[in-house]
Amino acid sequence: MEQPSQVGSLVCVGTGMMVGAHMSPLCQSHIEQADIVFVCVAEHYMEAWIMSLNVNAINLQPLYDEGKDRRHTYQQMCDAMLEQVKQGKKVVGAFYGHPGVFAKVPHQAIIEARELGFEAYMLPGISAEACLYADLNIDPGQFGCQHYEANQFLRYKRVIDTSGYLVLWQVGVAGDFSTAVFTSTKQQRSRLTEKLLQHYDASHTVIIYEAATLPIESFRASKVTLATLHEQEIHQHSTLVVPPQTPLVVDECYQ
Ligand SMILES: C[S@@+](CC[C@H](N)C(=O)[O-])C[C@H]1O[C@@H](n2cnc3c(N)ncnc32)[C@H](O)[C@@H]1O
Repeated sequence: MEQPSQVGSLVCVGTGMMVGAHMSPLCQSHIEQADIVFVCVAEHYMEAWIMSLNVNAINLQPLYDEGKDRRHTYQQMCDAMLEQVKQGKKVVGAFYGHPGVFAKVPHQAIIEARELGFEAYMLPGISAEACLYADLNIDPGQFGCQHYEANQFLRYKRVIDTSGYLVLWQVGVAGDFSTAVFTSTKQQRSRLTEKLLQHYDASHTVIIYEAATLPIESFRASKVTLATLHEQEIHQHSTLVVPPQTPLVVDECYQ
């Protein structure tokens, strides 16, 4: 790795999904010792906890707004962190789950900070994916697992392997391409059902998954038939799991 040429640094850490339970000691110590912490977490108690670890913490979440293009919000978040790095500060960005999983800002901010000659890196956290494997008893090594962002899955032609798991992220905004709303409508989400029906039977069981974010909660795993997917209650924090429908096919060339 290239040696940093500037004073000031950026470390993006993961808080994990569950408040007070998932964060690594290394991530916590970075938060505690930072000159300034930028917090981007969905859960109010998580936010309060991080804020209690370092008095010099700023919540980035209010930068999101209904009707505002998320790409603009992401750039504002990067700029806010970079601004402090340029002032020579030890900056930490605390992002829920894993900071590098379906999260643009930490990746982008690290690239920009490195280009400017600052030290910048990421420390992992427990993501929704990690919780999903534990809660749903899924080993991605058993049949394989494809992960896509729901709108990317809709807009592009992908090669779907129905003998493995398919996991779709951000299904709560599926079918809305404005990148400016918090949730899409059932009608918009019906396009996701429609596309999945090109690969799977209407009666195939899919799982709407939500990891617990408080120790007193339990996770949600709603099993529904694919045909009714868009009629279900789907939130911003829902992830869709489509289990395999077809058996693995032997490749005779490699036996
Ligand atoms: C911007 S991504 C952030 C993911 C996060 N960085 C992680 O490591 O899990 C937001 C998406 O993550 C998933 N997600 C967030 N919270 C979740 C939860 N409590 N349970 C299941 N999936 C969740 C959903 O697919 C949601 O739309």
